Amino acid sequence: MTTASPAEPLVFPAARGGCPFSPPPAHQAALIEEPVSQVSLWDGTKCWMITKHADVRNVLRDDRFSAEAHRPGFPFITQGRRAVPKGQISFIRMDDPEHSRLRRMLTAEFMIKRTEALRPRIQEIVDDFLDRMLANGSSADLVAEYALPIPSLVICLLLGVDYADHEFFQEHSRVVLRNASTAEEIDHAREALVGYLTDLARRKRTEPDDGIISGLVERGELTDEQIAAMGLLLLIAGHETTANMTALSTLALLRDPEQLAKLRAEPALMKGAVEELLRFLSIVHTGVPRVAAEDVEIGGRLIRAGDGVLCMINSANRDADTFPGPDELDITRAESRRHLAFGFGVHQCLGQPLARVELQIALETLLRRVPTLRLDCDPQDIRYREDMAVYGVHELPVAW
Ligand code: HEM
Repeated sequence: MTTASPAEPLVFPAARGGCPFSPPPAHQAALIEEPVSQVSLWDGTKCWMITKHADVRNVLRDDRFSAEAHRPGFPFITQGRRAVPKGQISFIRMDDPEHSRLRRMLTAEFMIKRTEALRPRIQEIVDDFLDRMLANGSSADLVAEYALPIPSLVICLLLGVDYADHEFFQEHSRVVLRNASTAEEIDHAREALVGYLTDLARRKRTEPDDGIISGLVERGELTDEQIAAMGLLLLIAGHETTANMTALSTLALLRDPEQLAKLRAEPALMKGAVEELLRFLSIVHTGVPRVAAEDVEIGGRLIRAGDGVLCMINSANRDADTFPGPDELDITRAESRRHLAFGFGVHQCLGQPLARVELQIALETLLRRVPTLRLDCDPQDIRYREDMAVYGVHELPVAW
């Protein structure tokens, strides 16, 4: 067992290069040569980068690693993210038992059965946005016209938030997720969103509906501020992740005519294709952060209490020991479902049944209804979201 890496630490995150769908080559090199390695963050502090599938699972299911951002040593990958909220923190940054107590209040809403029952409504929403996009001409930005509005409207309906305010949430969510945002900008955006959601919770006390926020109000166990913190987590997670997966998946398929043709010929492959796209694209690309609460050995290295770790989902999902030929997109791959795109352990994504249904419907409908869909720009001109906490494309010009 060793305690430190011999080489000069890599500065994290390293730049991407080569294939825009692959993790940075330097992270991939670490996966092969030194899967638990020390890296330097923007402020010179050191933390551990965990890249192997087995090691990432081991960290994320081990309660000796804490998700609490106020603990010393917690790794912040940008200066802005160091702005731990002044008010209520959402449960993604809490440990059990408080984390489970709060998460349990939402589990029924996101159960597979409940989410599957939403299929007809989600199909209507998807068809509606596609009708509008197609009616506007023969080209569009798929992000703005299709990929983003679908999950945005769905999460607003589930929460009981007015979709007419979507520009307000989307704008502030973008600030929270942009790597270059300063702590002040993130604080300001978060406060605006929390203020909006706190007012909304207050209003639901007198005007209840069947949305999640109203349900939390009726339980009577949380303050309006606590409800707002939960609503904020769902609003941001619900907006950006599925939207980016939809657009990036479309691009990955358009750039791989063989896989695209296979999927078009056999739409029953869609469920497996979505799992493989989640693995291949791994949009949560800047690492899932934790801090060791005790000394723990991972992958033959001693991680000391107070050391930060970043679990690299994108590298773990390209680990050849788990996924043979990991850099191939193969929609019929048998082991795709072992991916860690939704995390692992107690914080594993609460919204994954919803994300799966949204992705399956959005991609199936697009491919079926727009058989001539093609990229409408030089692939070199595509702006990838290397500057954001969730990877994807800023725009996706398509034509049909
Ligand atoms: C947690 C990914 C969609 C709500 C997570 C985590 C990941 C993730 C990696 C774990 C974070 C950690 O351990 O610190 C994704 C991806 C999505 C997606 C790739 C889409 C493709 C959604 C949606 C919602 C959602 C649609 C809600 C509507 C949440 C919540 C948590 C979470 C509430 C925190 C769970 C907890 O701390 O117990 N997600 N997510 N996610 N996600 Fe998602």
